[in-house]
Amino acid sequence: MDSIKVFAPATVANVVCGYDILGFAIDEPGDEIILTKNDFNKITITKIEGDGGKLPKNPEKNVVSHVIRLFLEKVNSTQGIDIELYKKMPLNSGMGSSAASSVAALVAINELMGKPFSRQELLPLAMEGERIACGNAHADNVAPALLGGMVLVRSYEPLDAFKLPYPKGLSVVSVHPHVDVPTGEARKIIKERISLKSAVQQWGNIAGLVAGFCTNDLGLVSRSLEDVIIEPVRAMLIPYFYEMKQLALDNGAIGFGISGSGPSVFALCEKKDIAEVISYKIKELLNQKNIESESFVTKINDEGARVIN
Ligand code: HSE
Repeated sequence: MDSIKVFAPATVANVVCGYDILGFAIDEPGDEIILTKNDFNKITITKIEGDGGKLPKNPEKNVVSHVIRLFLEKVNSTQGIDIELYKKMPLNSGMGSSAASSVAALVAINELMGKPFSRQELLPLAMEGERIACGNAHADNVAPALLGGMVLVRSYEPLDAFKLPYPKGLSVVSVHPHVDVPTGEARKIIKERISLKSAVQQWGNIAGLVAGFCTNDLGLVSRSLEDVIIEPVRAMLIPYFYEMKQLALDNGAIGFGISGSGPSVFALCEKKDIAEVISYKIKELLNQKNIESESFVTKINDEGARVIN
């Protein structure tokens, strides 16, 4: 095989109360990558589309070429690779854009090189892509993009990430308001220290959320989708966050929160028609406030990245 095309999905990291430890993949949007072997022992980026010219084409600086280089070093190969990247989701949106690109690249190069690694084994390499993208190698976007479904990162040292059961058939609304919230900045404003009282509340919620996922108890999921640590700090970076949250909850969302580090927000809904109404109402609100936005109503993606030819 000399060439391959791979899709990797957007993701919702944190899932409200699970900062850096919980994330799920969604069916759309996602990024596509085409990798083609070349005979020059070089990694080159031949095309990037859909990034508005913002991503570096220099293979020394691009996240995608970085993770491919790490992969090839790991298998002691000098194989040359031409990269075409098709960005099909907004950059710096909180929807796991850099994670989707890294994961698509790693799944593609793994296939092209005869599949030496499992998806789990690709995870540390994908996390290195996040380190380049935002300065921190968190796994809560790359793990669900790689493995699909709802993923819990129980531990970083040693790395222990695995898929959780979750209620099937849920719909997800993701709304991306066009405001700038770079992940690196959104991480810097988080407090280093928290009170024991907040910690107790947060770990009660995360335990409740996982229990609710495992038992299909949507009431418990809903009560547990509460973040007393990160959301109060980051919400101020997202205009009309609390108005959007109220709209979503008033219109039947199971829960609502910041998607990853924002500015995108998401609502988890029992049914697609509820998700459609919430999507419409949030967009309408942002429109009234002269904030452009785009929204996606989709399902949780259980498969993760996939080869498409
Ligand atoms: N857990 C990360 C954060 C996700 O909240 O900074 C970034 O998308």
